[in-house]
Amino acid sequence: MTVLVTGGAGYIGSHTVLELASVGTDVVIADDLSRSDARVLETMAKIAGRPVEFARIDVTDERALSALFASHRFEAVVHFAARKSVAESHDEPLAYYRTNLGALFSLLACMRRHDVSSLVFSSSAAVYGDVDGLTTSPYARTKRMGEDVLADVVRASGLRAVALRYFNPCGAHESAQLGELPDRGTTNLMPAVARAAVEGGPLRVFGTDYETPDGTAMRDYVHVVDVARAHLAALARVRASASSTFETFDLGTGISRTVLDVIRAFEARIGRPIAHSLEPRRAGDVPRLVANGERARLLLGWGASLDLDAMVDSSLRWHEHWRDHWR
Ligand code: UD1
Repeated sequence: MTVLVTGGAGYIGSHTVLELASVGTDVVIADDLSRSDARVLETMAKIAGRPVEFARIDVTDERALSALFASHRFEAVVHFAARKSVAESHDEPLAYYRTNLGALFSLLACMRRHDVSSLVFSSSAAVYGDVDGLTTSPYARTKRMGEDVLADVVRASGLRAVALRYFNPCGAHESAQLGELPDRGTTNLMPAVARAAVEGGPLRVFGTDYETPDGTAMRDYVHVVDVARAHLAALARVRASASSTFETFDLGTGISRTVLDVIRAFEARIGRPIAHSLEPRRAGDVPRLVANGERARLLLGWGASLDLDAMVDSSLRWHEHWRDHWR
């Protein structure tokens, strides 16, 4: 089986490519490297023990993508290629709609033209929005719209699709040679704490007056390797489906942690306190998010197996590796 992985040089994409390679699946990556680095490809090949086929393509470029489809026989697609910064999406909404929806449109057109009907779509817990269910950013809306587009296309065609709604993916590959690149504008908590733990420097805690046990916001942090494995389960499910279908699944552990819980877990690992300042709430943040893992367990046979300590440990080791070898 050959699987096309768009955005396969990105954070979750690269970990998924490695999981696919580890079970002997042939993978072709389509990525424009706009948010990645050619070294990610070299590292993947090193870990996988063989080269991974790569096409430098902007997935919104339907002509280039169609040529890639014409030269391969893809059995399924895992679609990651998208922009994902909430803050940036407020500043550049058009770029977000253009890239995130444009890539999906061009991909669906190519899949139809080349008779490929199995798709796993990278979605987000952001589709759940705030406490009133309202999406809080252009980024979140591109993901919700993406799911709506898929549901409509499925009704009108033989497409079999699954959307995976990631909660808070974090951590890094067990080898510590691959992880989220910390210098690409990430504003997420885990990389920020890892950086503070390894390099010192400021760490800000946004919001201390939420109605949570310690006043800080709660999230469902899930190891990126668990998230990657869920894509294999989702691929198996769409490929086994006899008719067109669209399903969504939450990907999380079902356990929600406060910001201070996370900082404490890092402190326990390194054996010393991590300085942090207490700041006002960050705009657009919700008090608490937790995945409902029931459907994934029941229908995908998937559940998270790596705990917070594994997330913390791999984040730290990756940050050290990145500091010493990549920066
Ligand atoms: C964010 C995005 C979400 C996206 C996800 C991708 C927002 C509002 N949401 O999720 O749409 O899918 O990243 O990974 O940006 N925090 C601190 N200090 C920091 C960084 C974060 O206190 O330096 C807090 C945040 O206020 C939040 C929690 O930690 O309460 C988690 O933040 P983060 O890791 O950015 O994830 P989300 O905001 O849940």
